[in-house]
Amino acid sequence: MLREKEVFKYAKANSLSLTFDDVLLVPGHSEIHPNNVSLKTYFARGVSLNIPIVSAAMDTITDHRLAIALANEGGLGIIHRGGTPQEQAQEVNRVKYFLQGRIDKPIVVYETESVDSVLRRREEKDWRFKSFPVVNAQNRLVGIVTSRDFKFCDNPECSIGEIMSRELLIALGDTSFEDAYTLLHSNKKSILPLVEDGLIVGMYVYSDLERVKNDNSHNHNLDSKGRLKVGASIGTGKEGLLRLEVLVRKEPDVIVLDTAHADSDRVFGTLREIKQTYSSLPIVAGNVSSSEAVRGLQDCGADGVKAGQGGGGICTTRIISGAGIPQLSAVNECAMASDVPLCSDGGARYTGDITKAIGAGAQSVMVGTLLAGTEETPGDVILRDGKQYKRFRGMGSLSAMRESREARERYMQEENPEDKLVPEGIESIVPYKGPVKDVIFQLIGGLRSGMGMVGASTIDELREKAEFTQITEAGIAESHPHNVIITEDAPNYSGRK
Ligand code: XMP
Repeated sequence: MLREKEVFKYAKANSLSLTFDDVLLVPGHSEIHPNNVSLKTYFARGVSLNIPIVSAAMDTITDHRLAIALANEGGLGIIHRGGTPQEQAQEVNRVKYFLQGRIDKPIVVYETESVDSVLRRREEKDWRFKSFPVVNAQNRLVGIVTSRDFKFCDNPECSIGEIMSRELLIALGDTSFEDAYTLLHSNKKSILPLVEDGLIVGMYVYSDLERVKNDNSHNHNLDSKGRLKVGASIGTGKEGLLRLEVLVRKEPDVIVLDTAHADSDRVFGTLREIKQTYSSLPIVAGNVSSSEAVRGLQDCGADGVKAGQGGGGICTTRIISGAGIPQLSAVNECAMASDVPLCSDGGARYTGDITKAIGAGAQSVMVGTLLAGTEETPGDVILRDGKQYKRFRGMGSLSAMRESREARERYMQEENPEDKLVPEGIESIVPYKGPVKDVIFQLIGGLRSGMGMVGASTIDELREKAEFTQITEAGIAESHPHNVIITEDAPNYSGRK
């Protein structure tokens, strides 16, 4: 729970709500260097992030490619639900198996097999590795055979049992990636079978763990098994629950129960039902804009809440329906009631908007527009007048709703026929932006700079310390470049939006 910030309190007293361009963070005395701040935070209870950036569950933003690229930089992708449950689960799976951390079903060989037959099988199956756990006829672990054993074997007719090593380093099934690395390193072993009741339930390979740990070019957001973290979005009701059943088999780190308006019995009921069956699976529910709605979702078991309605770059909900709350007031209002991590979803256009959303009370920011047009988003680059673009559309746009029942469900129009849809989003093209890691670098750079200005060394400190001042149109004009003709493109600024 966070205190109500003065600027939003006074605005509220006048029935006024504020958003990004209405305010600026007040710079304070600071000894904080932007390079030294910590950006670690949470998207949900138990779901940590190395950077506070989560990608929107939109079909032109997050499939496995963007989720992998973002988790590699420390963030988290939420796989959209535009496809079938099986397709979505496959996308989750692709992220989970991008980095080799824990191997859940290691390939084993039998102690009675000949060396020759194992080597032939390896060639046939095109396995790149030569280290295997060895089991007996009862499938109990009895040894390990490695490339060294194969190398020094002079007789291919002899059995695996004759060349294997019986000196085993083993650990229990729930051994974490970090513990496995330490164990293997200190014992100078290359393989760590995980064993329960004599049976192999998983395995770590030192070279895989070392590759991930020593990769200084990335800031991987890893689960306890050393795999990239990923989330997936679902809708409400029976269909949402059926989708969830398929998804959980692929072990997503978090599920987002994602609707345009979550302050309803439909969402509360689904959330309660999910938590009854999957009590330990983190669920982020949204979207809402009020303290009461946050409390309602928390009472039903939400592990995280998503704030923001209609502020997205491609959203027309507020224009079509006439309802919504400008984003920063909504975030501060939700933060005042939130006992679980709060995510500000929608409306961020500049890097500074991320700092503002966190200053207003969010622990993370969900972004669509800021990542739209990056290389890893779904869809091809298209050419128009010699310039490169990518498509970006709202999940409530006419085409998205026509193509996907799930998109219609987000806006409570799942029963409507194709010619009776009321879109709440638009379709667009945005300039091609290149690799997502370069965009993330700029987003994080702006956030670091803002934290330095406020004097906050952590995300929580930024939430606590941030004070805002309301500004006028003159203040906004002064904030943007003025009285000049920009001659070079900046990687983090392309004019007033
Ligand atoms: P940004 O501003 O980052 O916002 O692009 C992304 C968020 O927008 C929401 N979203 C929509 N809202 N109509 C809406 O009113 C739509 O068609 C639509 N599509 C996405 C969603 O919460 C997303 O995370």
